[in-house]
This record gives sequence, C-alpha cells and structure tokens, in this order.
Amino acid sequence: MDYFAGLARTGNVVDDVTRFLEAAGRVDTLAHCRAVAVQAEELAVRYQADVGRSRLAGVCHDLAAVVPRGEAVAVARVFGLTPDPVERTAPVLLHGPIAAAVLHRKLGVMDSDVLDAVKYHTTSRAGAAPLELILFVADKIALDPAAPIRDFVPAVRAAAKESLQGAAFVYLDWVITHAGRLGWTLHPNVLAARDELRC
Ligand SMILES: [Fe+2]
Ligand SMILES: [Fe+2]
Repeated sequence: MDYFAGLARTGNVVDDVTRFLEAAGRVDTLAHCRAVAVQAEELAVRYQADVGRSRLAGVCHDLAAVVPRGEAVAVARVFGLTPDPVERTAPVLLHGPIAAAVLHRKLGVMDSDVLDAVKYHTTSRAGAAPLELILFVADKIALDPAAPIRDFVPAVRAAAKESLQGAAFVYLDWVITHAGRLGWTLHPNVLAARDELRC
C-alpha cells in the first residue's frame, strides 16, 4: 500500500504536507507539527539559525506518522532505506528516516540539513548539525497529544534557554535513564549523541 499516494507536489512543501495530513485525518499530528515549527522558529531566532528552514523541518518532520508501525520496515525498504536491527525491533524509530526519504523523493526537498534534521529528529546522533539540534529540541518541548509522558519538558525547556546542546543532553540523558522503565528501545544514535554532549 502506498501511504503517500495522496501527497501532491505543488512546489510549496509546507502547504503540501499540511494538506496531506489534513486529508489523512491526522489532526493531532498536524497540531504537533505546527507547534514544533513554532518552537523551531523560536530556537532559530535565539541561536541565529535559519528560521525558514527550521520552520520547514518542523512542519514536515512527522509526516510519516501515517504509516502503521507494522508496515514501517516494508515502507522504509520501498524508499531505499535499510532498517538496522534496532529499527526492525522498534519500527517507530523509522518514521523520521521515512519522512526524510519522502520529502526528498516525492516533494523534491534537496536541502540536506533539513533532510538530516527530519531523519534524526527522534534519536539525534553524534555530530548533529545545528538544524538537527533545533528540530530535536523543538520536537521534545512542543505540544504532542500523542506523547503521554512529558516529565522531561520543564528541564529541557529550561536548558534550551542556555544552549541547544545542553537541552539535547537533558532529554537524551532522561531517555537513557528511563528507557527501561518505559519499555522504550534505545537506538545506538541516542547513546552516541548523549556521550558526545556529556564531554
Ligand atoms: Fe517524530
Ligand atoms: Fe514530533
């Protein structure tokens, strides 16, 4: 099944993704993506990054939420991705890589910084670029109706006033500390990102 058959390309990526999520009935996802875009814009202003590219990454980052988790590995392969063992165990981790592939292949997004920000917005990674950190942090502190566990938000928000790296570290360290209790699968990128930022 082509979960992105309804994604029309008009040349305006923000409008295309917005219409796609509306047509798919993903009201909560769209509200979250818009909230992330606002947070990303605020962080871009604070840290002298590109506001437009930050907004674009925010609006688009969760468009692959339309793919059921049970289908994510197959859909990833259709888009030329090779899910690693951790992603095969926890297919939810593939929604960022799939979204980046869709943006590139179906909507013609060529900006590698935007694509990497979307690809790594769930796990981050060692060596994350500034736009990656902006989207990663914005995603964690913005409204998310699908995320019932929000214990980390105040600490990440507070850290984001001082530095993007510090805010990312607070979230990554929280995830690593609580993953077992929450039943969350840790991707190696999470550990590598936290270890790099701890230095
Ligand atoms: Fe996401
Ligand atoms: Fe998100």
